[in-house]
Amino acid sequence: MNILEIDTVSLDEKTKELVIIDQTKLPNDIELIRISDKETLYNAIKLLQVRGAPAIGVAAAIGMYAIASRLEVDDISDFKSEYKRISDYINSSRPTAVNLSWALNRMYDTIADISSDVNSLKEILHNEACKIRDEDIAVCEKLGEYGLSLIKDGDGILTHCNAGQLATVRYGTALAPIHLGLRKGMHFKVFTDETRPLLQGARLSAFEMCSAGADTTVICDNMASSVMKNGWVNAVFVGADRIAANGDVANKIGTSGVAVLAKYYNIPFYVVAPTSTIDMNCPDGKHIKIEQRNEDEVTSMWYKKRMAPEGVKVFNPAFDVTENSLVTAIITEKGIIKKPSEIF
Ligand code: MRU
Repeated sequence: MNILEIDTVSLDEKTKELVIIDQTKLPNDIELIRISDKETLYNAIKLLQVRGAPAIGVAAAIGMYAIASRLEVDDISDFKSEYKRISDYINSSRPTAVNLSWALNRMYDTIADISSDVNSLKEILHNEACKIRDEDIAVCEKLGEYGLSLIKDGDGILTHCNAGQLATVRYGTALAPIHLGLRKGMHFKVFTDETRPLLQGARLSAFEMCSAGADTTVICDNMASSVMKNGWVNAVFVGADRIAANGDVANKIGTSGVAVLAKYYNIPFYVVAPTSTIDMNCPDGKHIKIEQRNEDEVTSMWYKKRMAPEGVKVFNPAFDVTENSLVTAIITEKGIIKKPSEIF
């Protein structure tokens, strides 16, 4: 089974369940998880079984529909308050990717002012979740087209973390131009930073790119400078978890270092993201909440034996902020921009 033939996030219409690919098992096992309750949805997002900003948003939307469809509450205002309580709980699973609250707010807003009956609310939630999913697919196709216009056949592309199909429903954001180019018969040399500590680059981007038939090379994060210095990288493509109004970009930890290197070596650094990742309520990167994760991800998770001394302090932020001055352009479905104010 080719991973690219399966949507990362989907709705089983028959059983009314959210279905996700369990990304913690990749690349060794392709396993699906079915979700219809709030704890499983919360944990799937928290534990990165579903991850990547757009995929988290779509999973939250479909997941909330799956949960809502099972709520046995007849009174419409009781239904709404129970729905909102669960939605707030899901929203607390991860703080940085704005697509989570964006999708949850969009879902709730569709029912907030409706006063017919509970079954109609469930129907409305179903339709909105499907709309969010379908828009994600269409937006990623558009991102692929815009991104592809910036590169040429044979280019070397470096990417960090996974902003590919596995971070969206299909195609991806930062990797969408490569998927599209490959389908058109083009060739690229793709370098995927391994992306410590959770290895989304080595496990997910490399798997996704190999599955698509791309010439793919995994590098440790500290090798990016060498690869750039060798002249092997024509452009850097990364995704984003939240883009502030001034164009500062929060993305996977290590992204800002790659941006600094790209500037030094005069390599264009592109951020590819849907407009749903732009948070105009957030003035700049200093206001973005950065998720801190467990220290075992750094010290023991990938090792047969713990590799750092017991008791040592560990700093494990999941994201960092790249200042807008280091970003060559932001590629959105509405066009290629320098600052969000160009489209908002
Ligand atoms: O912690 P993760 O794996 O959810 O982090 C993902 C990233 O940082 C991605 O680059 C970002 O969400 C964009 S995905 C299109």
